[in-house]
Parts: sequence; structure tokens; C-alpha cells
Amino acid sequence: MVIYSKNKLVEHARRAAQMAQAKYSNFQVGAALETVDGRIFSGCNVESSSYGLTICAERVALFKAISEGELRFTKIAIVGPAADFCPPCGACRQLLYDYAPDLEIIMTDGKEVRCMMLRELLPFAFEETKLRKR
Ligand code: THU
Repeated sequence: MVIYSKNKLVEHARRAAQMAQAKYSNFQVGAALETVDGRIFSGCNVESSSYGLTICAERVALFKAISEGELRFTKIAIVGPAADFCPPCGACRQLLYDYAPDLEIIMTDGKEVRCMMLRELLPFAFEETKLRKR
């Protein structure tokens, strides 16, 4: 089992950002999601001329992993284009929480690496247990 270091995961995210299709926003994002077994699934944002159809890098990575049978994740690295941190958007926070509420989020501005837990980024989250309490 290979567990990658945070820097290694950031490197995968950085490489994924180079694949971004972001001609409308020019904001290229890459994400790299690690499974409990140390597999890495990367994703980039893919934009549409119908802007709302755009999908973020984090969700591409998550859907790639799920579609290959993975359901247990430990951490995700996210790299944006600017010399700034790129925290996940609200929609991605919810999707990531639905599948990995204890996920660690690793972000970098190109100099520092900052780690936060998804639970910190999405407190009092809507979750599947709420669906059963009716
Ligand atoms: N984007 C991501 O891929 N991930 C984020 O966490 C924030 C935003 C993308 C969506 C869109 O293609 C571009 O960045 C600008 O919002």
C-alpha cells in the first residue's frame, strides 16, 4: 500500500490542472483525491459554453474514483491557477461530504501548504441521516 505524502498529492493536483478546460474563466483547477489504499484519482475543471454545466476539478476526481469502485477516501489536494489558495466551492464541499465526511483538504498558494478538515469547511452539514428522520 502506497500512502502519498501531502506534497506528492499536491504535485498530482498541479499536473491535473494542466488538463483544465477553462477557456471561459481562465481559472484552471486541479484536484487529486487519495483512497484509503493509496490510489490517487485526479481531476480538472471542465467548462461549458452553457456555464452552469461546468464541472469542478474536485467533482471530476470524485466521480472518476467512484466510477472505478472506490468509496473510501482520506484526503484531497486542490491547486488553483493563482498564487492563492483554492478552497472547494460549496457544491463540491457537499458532494465530498456525502462520500467522505472525514476528508482532509490540502490547499496551496504555491508557497505554503494549508490543511483543513472538510468538517471545518462545511459545519452543520446536510447529510443522509437527515433523509431518514421523517
Ligand atoms: N472551480 C473548480 O474547479 N474548483 C473549485 O473549487 C472552485 C472553482 C472551477 C469552476 C470553474 O471552471 C472555474 O473554477 C471558475 O469558477
